[in-house]
Amino acid sequence: MTNIAVLVSGGGTNLQALIDAEKSGIIKSGKIKLVVSNKADAYALKRADDNGIDSVVITRKACGSQEAMEQKIMETLEKNNIDLIVLAGFMSILTEKFTGKYDHRIINIHPSLIPSFCGAGFYGLRVHEAALEKGVKVTGATVHFVNEIPDGGEIIMQKAVSVADDDTPETLQKKVMEQAEWIILPLAVEKVSKQISERKDVK
Ligand code: GRF
Repeated sequence: MTNIAVLVSGGGTNLQALIDAEKSGIIKSGKIKLVVSNKADAYALKRADDNGIDSVVITRKACGSQEAMEQKIMETLEKNNIDLIVLAGFMSILTEKFTGKYDHRIINIHPSLIPSFCGAGFYGLRVHEAALEKGVKVTGATVHFVNEIPDGGEIIMQKAVSVADDDTPETLQKKVMEQAEWIILPLAVEKVSKQISERKDVK
């Protein structure tokens, strides 16, 4: 069994999709052991609590710097024997010190078809605004491994979503979540959890 930590900053609808997928058996090779939030008021914390999942708040402000925050998160992950880290709306770009330690053990969900509309500055509604400005007819979501390049790691799964003529950034964001993010994130988490747990069994 792969021990999973989910890192969040906000509403946590992707966290909810993972919780639901664990309950329904879509995720069967991993278990969500811990939720880490870098925002004290993240609604995702309530979702963790409602589902009996341990959670911890680790903010940059309280830690004093990005480096100190990352150090604290790493210590917490180790203490909880975490094998796989899922960034689900975690709004902080992790430095190489962190990503290098967990090579192919951190995954992220991004609300576009990478390599379009990704990298530094492309987060939240901005991604969908850019897609609409460009006039793309298809967008989607991507789950990828995290390395030192923002949105630059190996792609694990993608799903396309059609753009309608009357879409706004808000309607497109909702469509991409419902039709892509909440579907492929659990599938990708199961896929990677299975690979990690098979490797653990060999050890
Ligand atoms: C999602 O759009 C995700 O793709 C992006 O941040 C958003 C998080 O939403 N990385 P939620 O907190 O999971 O509801």
